[in-house]
Amino acid sequence: MLDIRTVKIIGAPVLIFESAYSIEENHLSTPENEGYKRPDGRIVGGTEASIIDFPYQLSLRYYGVHSCGAALISLSWALSAAHCTVDRPPKSLSLQAGSENRLFGGQIRSVSQIIEHEDYHHLTASNDIAIIKSDSPFVLSLTVRPVSLPLPSDSWSYGTYFAVSGWGILHRDASNVPVRLRQTVVPIVDQETCNTAYRGRISQSMLCAGYWEGGRDACQMDSGGPLVAEGKLVGIVSWGNRCALPGFPGVYTRVAFYRTWIASATGL
Ligand code: ARG
Repeated sequence: MLDIRTVKIIGAPVLIFESAYSIEENHLSTPENEGYKRPDGRIVGGTEASIIDFPYQLSLRYYGVHSCGAALISLSWALSAAHCTVDRPPKSLSLQAGSENRLFGGQIRSVSQIIEHEDYHHLTASNDIAIIKSDSPFVLSLTVRPVSLPLPSDSWSYGTYFAVSGWGILHRDASNVPVRLRQTVVPIVDQETCNTAYRGRISQSMLCAGYWEGGRDACQMDSGGPLVAEGKLVGIVSWGNRCALPGFPGVYTRVAFYRTWIASATGL
């Protein structure tokens, strides 16, 4: 008697999860997901952030205009997405640190070198990582401080929450980019579940984070920006199906996977 009840109690949540999941799967196969309502929210579903709490956050500027995020990993090196630097010569880029206002303040440096991953592919977004060198070191302050890199062996278990930050748009149809930095918090998504949602496009060098019901996510212009847990740079904003859609988490470059590549390129 008691054993049977226990089995039912344990069994029920699994069944609920599986049926909810297959409903989402059916939605996935409808053309262009027209059935989805856009989640209202703002990054999507976030709040304004102070640079003091995100002192590693950089704005990567293209001809002086914010185009992507980046993360400070030492006073002279930054990490961003390869899709943010591809076809952009160092001269066209600059980095801003130490200001939550992307139009004003902080420390600005020219870019002297870009090291894009040699196997970056724009169609699959694989190896979406680039290293950027500033022409002179940033000055450490309350608002400018590098973030630690993970170990190659670091992995994050179910239940881990990450902070993602940036000046990206507040929903996928927004036309204006916020002036002040924003952040939101998103949980890790199981790798297999994410890979199923994205039809086999999630490799071990990627990591997914977000809510199954959507609503909180990075979005356009957040790319290249940091996903952080426990003071470590876990991910780089890379791609997703639009932004904050139910059943489609944000996809990030898994920094731990590239730890030795970063070391050999920078000595860090
Ligand atoms: N590729 C986008 C950019 O260039 C960022 C996409 C992130 N999307 C997401 N749903 N998490 O800014």
